[in-house]
Amino acid sequence: MKIAIPKERRPGERRAAASPDTVKKFAQLGAEVVVETGTGAGADIPDSHFAEAGAKIAPDAKSALGDADMVLKVQRPMTAAEGNDELALMKKGAILVAGLGALQQREQVKAYAAAGIDAYAMELMPRITRAQSMDILSSQSNLAGYKSVLDAAAVFGRAFPMMMTSAGTIAPARVFIMGVGVAGLQAIATAKRLGAVVSATDVRPATKEQVESLGGKFVWVDDEEARASQTSGGYAKEMSAEYKAKQAALIAETVKKQDIIITTALIPGRPAPVLVTEEMVKSMKPGSVIIDLAVEAGGNCPLSKPDQIVDVGGVKIVGHTNYPSRVPVDASNLFSKNLWNFLSPHWDKESKSFKFKADDETVTGTCVTRDGAVVHAMLKEGN
Ligand code: NAI
Repeated sequence: MKIAIPKERRPGERRAAASPDTVKKFAQLGAEVVVETGTGAGADIPDSHFAEAGAKIAPDAKSALGDADMVLKVQRPMTAAEGNDELALMKKGAILVAGLGALQQREQVKAYAAAGIDAYAMELMPRITRAQSMDILSSQSNLAGYKSVLDAAAVFGRAFPMMMTSAGTIAPARVFIMGVGVAGLQAIATAKRLGAVVSATDVRPATKEQVESLGGKFVWVDDEEARASQTSGGYAKEMSAEYKAKQAALIAETVKKQDIIITTALIPGRPAPVLVTEEMVKSMKPGSVIIDLAVEAGGNCPLSKPDQIVDVGGVKIVGHTNYPSRVPVDASNLFSKNLWNFLSPHWDKESKSFKFKADDETVTGTCVTRDGAVVHAMLKEGN
């Protein structure tokens, strides 16, 4: 069983799909591991570290991928139309495991099937307790949340903590986190550590307790209707029009007073919801900073632009794409470990190869193509 890890070729991608630690683990199982030269360059992993862990170093993608039985990647392979046909380098019957963006890249999923590649889309990992250690969205979002606060601090012309100096007192920065999933929670924790006054909001009532446990203030209209909805389970139920109007007014009032806003709201497989409107941006003070973590999914702020810092009346709207790649070392280590945690239970000692257990939820949840066909329920024609 030959496992290949090619260098990531998409612009701006610094992560690697293997670390010396996971290479060592795969080699110890009995797999042959081949790493393309330069794979770890963006994440400070020299070829020699992969070699010491037991990998062969291939001089180029062709020799790494050519006869590989399994290919591990961070992002989906590039196509001929993108000027570098990585898919064509893979052999028929090979297994591809990566963040494929399968719901957005349906044509490419069909291409995997046509090429006879069995593809596993790691972003579709079911969110069950057992699969937490395999969840690339969580491991990468956590780092994105952390880095977003540091980026905000770097762009912001003031300090975060309150400082009492002989020359005067500096007020603490006010940070508002919109969307309290994995990234949002880490952003709250990071902003608190830097000394900011932090508040946050989400449509899921269960997040109120999580925000408060991190020392943040939860921004919501605390009336009888809202309290009743909190006891109705994990997800927000449809609220009355009156409630929604009150909540929108409260958010608009809150936004005006903030120095930093970090938006993280995503809806899987759909465009990101708009949370900070143009009018809201214009209500903010010059020097304020908005970090739109959802920019790749269309943005939580309609004014954000991918890979740009847009200035709107002195408010800086930061739209970095591929946030996890901004913390490439930790992101690579955790991503690689996610792949290992997913794959290792399926190693078959007898045949010294991977034999996926067909009834395993982590397999059925992520497998998008098998034996020349698209097999995932969410991707079959008509869905
Ligand atoms: P996400 O990245 O899909 O969305 C981020 C946040 O935005 C979510 O909290 C969502 O409720 C919020 N949001 C969506 N629309 C919004 C709107 N209009 N206004 C304000 N907020 C809005 O979510 P993420 O971070 O991937 O995970 C969400 C939750 O899923 C986690 O907090 C956790 O409870 C659960 N989870 C469970 C896992 C497991 O059991 N294996 C693994 C990862 C997450």
